[in-house]
Amino acid sequence: MKAIYLDHAATTPIHPDVLQVMVETMEDNFGNPSSVHSFGRKARQLLDKARMTAAKSIGASEKDIIFTSGGTEADNLALLGVAEANRDKGKHIITTKMEHHATLHAAQALEKKGYQVTYLDVLENGTIDYEQLKSSLRDDTVLVSVMMVNNETGVIQPIEEIGNLLKEHQAYFHTDAVQAYGLLPINVTALGVDLLTVSSHKINGPKGVGFLYIHPDVKINAQQFGGEQERKRRAGTENVAGVAGFAKAIEISMIQREERISSYQKYRDLFLEKLNEAAIDFSINGVDSERVPNVVNISFPCANVEQLLTNFDLSGIAASSGSACTAGSVEPSHVLTAMFSENNPCTTNSIRFSFGYANNEGNVVEAAEKVGKIVQRLTK
Ligand SMILES: Cc1ncc(COP(=O)(O)O)c(C=O)c1O
Repeated sequence: MKAIYLDHAATTPIHPDVLQVMVETMEDNFGNPSSVHSFGRKARQLLDKARMTAAKSIGASEKDIIFTSGGTEADNLALLGVAEANRDKGKHIITTKMEHHATLHAAQALEKKGYQVTYLDVLENGTIDYEQLKSSLRDDTVLVSVMMVNNETGVIQPIEEIGNLLKEHQAYFHTDAVQAYGLLPINVTALGVDLLTVSSHKINGPKGVGFLYIHPDVKINAQQFGGEQERKRRAGTENVAGVAGFAKAIEISMIQREERISSYQKYRDLFLEKLNEAAIDFSINGVDSERVPNVVNISFPCANVEQLLTNFDLSGIAASSGSACTAGSVEPSHVLTAMFSENNPCTTNSIRFSFGYANNEGNVVEAAEKVGKIVQRLTK
């Protein structure tokens, strides 16, 4: 039995061209980019080129790209670095209840240091409450962090609207674009974004690498101490092979964006069509909102996440939920809890299926048939 991967929002398979670039880099370009000799200069050139590729993909300047160890570090740097550097302007931060833990836990760490954080509610359609954001802004707000696309529901947030709102406010605007990048067009100037997070392993690049875009006017403190890499904003010898692979993944994702959007959409529609044909009882979380084409979060009434995932796995289907399994019991997803309130069955009976590079029409149909049978059996 060949397992079918429907969890591309968790991570994606590496593209063969990315792998090849990484191997070549490790073999032929092992210098330290901070060294002044020819080996170092060669590695530096590679980094510079990758930085240009990353910058171009979001309409930024290469000076404003900081390579990090991934989305988590970029989110941490944005929140902690901005909060710390702008203490004199205020200690209030706004974020949302549905952010990834990389943002939420960084915000909680700031609360422990005496900052005040407003966690915006999430409406049942999966978007933030924009009016609540407006009324939460204070004179001492220094940072607003709202993700571009939610990683559990795929719901797109009103980033441009927030960017416009904040133009007249001192607060910097950070967006975690990890789940949007490669699928939505992103231009930091048009969106009015000051800081933006991207992770490589969600776009068929390697794990352990990402970037944070930082507008040149943003005051930010480095969170790592050491060398003067990344314009003194992120100490540590750069992951040269990782960055090379990431840049290749960016290039491919930009060239293939339209093609990817239409095939992922096709897979998602096909999957849902097959569930409907099998008369499976389900509803889609965030169905009324604009969503990215590769993710669908499905609530199966009378089912239970843990049982579903175990049975899917036994039949070779890899999917996931936002619920954390701790010591055998399922903790409800914080995103769905924010949308539907505590104890709503959706928070413990919903599964995220996410489509991508590992899929084709055949394995999507096969997966839907297996999923349908399992759901029928478990909810009988
Ligand atoms: C929205 C979002 N932000 C941040 C991250 C963390 O990125 P990384 O795995 O590169 O640390 C993820 C990964 O799941 C994510 O989905």
